[in-house]
Amino acid sequence: MLPLIVDTDTGSDDAVALLLAAASGLGDVRAVTTVAGNVPLATATRNALISLQTAGRPDVPVHEGCESPMTRALSTAQHVHGQDGMGDLDLPDPLGAAEREHAVDVLLAAPRRLPGELTLVTLGPLTNLAAALLRDRDLLRRYRHVYCMAGAADLWGNVSATAEFNVWVDPEAARVVLQAATPDQVTWIGWDVSRRDAVMTPADQLRLERIGTPMATFAHRVNRTVAEWARDVTGLSGYDLPDPVAMAVALRPELAVERERAYVDVALGDEARGQLIIDRRRSAPAPNLTLVRRVDETAFKQLLFDTCEGPR
Ligand code: BDR
Ligand code: CA
Repeated sequence: MLPLIVDTDTGSDDAVALLLAAASGLGDVRAVTTVAGNVPLATATRNALISLQTAGRPDVPVHEGCESPMTRALSTAQHVHGQDGMGDLDLPDPLGAAEREHAVDVLLAAPRRLPGELTLVTLGPLTNLAAALLRDRDLLRRYRHVYCMAGAADLWGNVSATAEFNVWVDPEAARVVLQAATPDQVTWIGWDVSRRDAVMTPADQLRLERIGTPMATFAHRVNRTVAEWARDVTGLSGYDLPDPVAMAVALRPELAVERERAYVDVALGDEARGQLIIDRRRSAPAPNLTLVRRVDETAFKQLLFDTCEGPR
């Protein structure tokens, strides 16, 4: 099993990604770190605890991280994921609570104890990772690999015309990560992948409902408000699962069927805030990032269904 650290602004799709990480049998989640993004920090932490409990792993330590982006005010996505980030279902409080150690300290210390062994998966704004990088510029290479749900490589945005939410919320943090990244160490799976390869159609949703286990019901119901947003804003044929598809690539890299290596920066100015700047010219600087561009949709959804069914 892949030893993992998961950094998350736990909203409804992060919750499903945590099920994949903790209950697919492919991941060995050593710690979860939380960050403000989809919802304020305390809500993200609560949702991470609920998700791990649902996955049957209430023992995984959860550490709170940064409560706001590096320089900007926090903009949440509660209009997408619900006020509580989990479809406003009035879920009961989790049994456990967060640990005392700060998320950034965990991101720094964990790979020093196990150099090259841990995979880091980030599912929210990159604030915690950037804060850690300001203290240790070599941090990325201490991990086995770093996967981020971040960006929209085709410039088809979800939070603005051209930007993806996680990068848009804290573009300065995204830039810190990009400036330290190399394509062998860091892979981004963007909203373009989710939009094309991770949309839960009505048939997929029905299949999940029919599985009927607590995990399947949870995965479907918490995305209730995202389905409404898909209908009204993104125009997709159901709720999409950006964080789960990124997690699936981390757990099973062969699910990525198209990749590119490129030099990537992020726009900080108001009009283009959070938009990726991808230099594909022959004269471009050396690539700093691997971008996953397509994922095997059928295999991804099968992994989700199998996980929600639970061990046979
Ligand atoms: C990303 O933003 C959030 O809405 C999701 O949790 C995902 O991490 C998609 O743009
Ligand atoms: Ca997220």
